[in-house]
Amino acid sequence: MAKELLDVRNLSVHYKILAGWVYAVDNVSFKLNRGETMGLVGESGCGKTTTGYGITQLLASNAYIKDGSKVIFDGKDFVEMSTEPSKKFSGYRKIIEYHPEMRKYRWKRISMIFQGAMNAFNPVFKVGDQIIEAILTHEDITEEEARKRVEELYKLVGIPVDRIDNYPHEYSGGMKQRAMIAMALALNPDLIIADEPTTALDVVTQDKILGEMARLQKEKDVAMIIITHDVSVVAEMAHKMAVMYAGHLVETGTTRQIFKETAHPYMEALLKAFPSIKGERKRLKAIPGSPPDLSNPPKGCRFAPRCPYAKDICLEEEPPVVEVAPGHFSKCHFAEELYGELGGEAK
Ligand SMILES: Nc1ncnc2c1ncn2[C@@H]1O[C@H](COP(=O)(O)OP(=O)(O)OP(=O)(O)O)[C@@H](O)[C@H]1O
Ligand SMILES: [Mg+2]
Repeated sequence: MAKELLDVRNLSVHYKILAGWVYAVDNVSFKLNRGETMGLVGESGCGKTTTGYGITQLLASNAYIKDGSKVIFDGKDFVEMSTEPSKKFSGYRKIIEYHPEMRKYRWKRISMIFQGAMNAFNPVFKVGDQIIEAILTHEDITEEEARKRVEELYKLVGIPVDRIDNYPHEYSGGMKQRAMIAMALALNPDLIIADEPTTALDVVTQDKILGEMARLQKEKDVAMIIITHDVSVVAEMAHKMAVMYAGHLVETGTTRQIFKETAHPYMEALLKAFPSIKGERKRLKAIPGSPPDLSNPPKGCRFAPRCPYAKDICLEEEPPVVEVAPGHFSKCHFAEELYGELGGEAK
C-alpha cells in the first residue's frame, strides 16, 4: 500500500484587501502519497501559488485561513500547529510568524522552488556557499561534509562541479534553475513544491530539466507538487493532477484520467490552449473571456460564464464534486453527462 504523505482538506485561503476579500483558494482538497508527483494546473491568478504556500504556511501577511481548513503532513496538521484564531475576523485563523516547529518542517521535510526562482540566489554570495549555508543551518555536519554533498548534488542535477564557486550572475538561466533544484534536494525532503519551475526557460532546456526532475524524483523517492499554467509540462511526469479554476479545484484524478477521459469543460479548454509539446501540431484555441475577479466571484459555477456547455443551473448553484470514475472527480453539474464526451487528448 502506498503511504500517504499529505492530506489537504477544505483548505480556504482568503486575502484581506481594502475593498473586502479576495477568495483566492476555496475548499481545496487533495491527497498525495510518498514518492508521488502531482501537477497543479490552471490559468494565471487562479490560486495555485496560494495553495502551494498554504501548505507550507508561508503566506502574505494579509492572508487568512478559514476555520475548518486542514493541511495534514505526515500525520501533523500544520493549520492547527501554526495558526491561531484571528482577533480581527471571526471564522478565520492567522499564521503565527516565526513558528519554531513549522520552521523545522520547511526545507528539512518540505522544500520549495519559488516562482521566479531564477533570482532567488543572493547576487553577492557564491551559489555553492548559499547551498552549503542552507545545509549547515539545518544539519549538524561540518562545512567540508556539506561541500561534499553540494558536489554530489551538482553532479546529480547536471552542473559542472567547478561552478560551485561562481556567483549567480555567472550562471545561465537553466543553470540557476538546476542549482535551485539542487538546493531543494539538499536536505533530502519528503516533499518538493515547485512553483512554475521552468516557465522562464526555452522549450528545449525546459524539457531537459523536467526530464531530470522526473529522474531525480524516482531516484530519491521524493513527492512533488509541480505548479504550472502549461498542462503539457506535467503531462509526462505527474502521476496525478489537480486542475484549478478561480480558487476551486474543478477536476482531480490520475494524469491519464484527466488527459484521456477529461470530465470538466475547463480542462477541455486548457487542453486546446496548451497542446502537447511532442504531439501533432494543432491550432491553439485560446479560452474565450478571462478568469473572474476573485474579490467578487460569480455565484454558481465559477467557470459558467466562459463554459460552452453552461445551462441556467450553472449560473445559480455551485456544482457538487462528482466522482465520475474511481478516484476521478469533477466539480460540474453535468459531470456525468459530459464524461466521455469532452475532447480529451485521445480524440
Ligand atoms: N497578498 C495578496 N493580497 C491580495 N490578493 C492577492 C495576494 N496574493 C495573491 N492575490 C490574489 O489571489 C489570487 C490568486 O493568486 P495566486 O498567486 O495564488 O495565483 P496563481 O494561480 O499562482 O497565478 P500565476 O499563475 O499568475 O502565478 C489572484 O487573484 C491574486 O491577485
Ligand atoms: Mg503563481
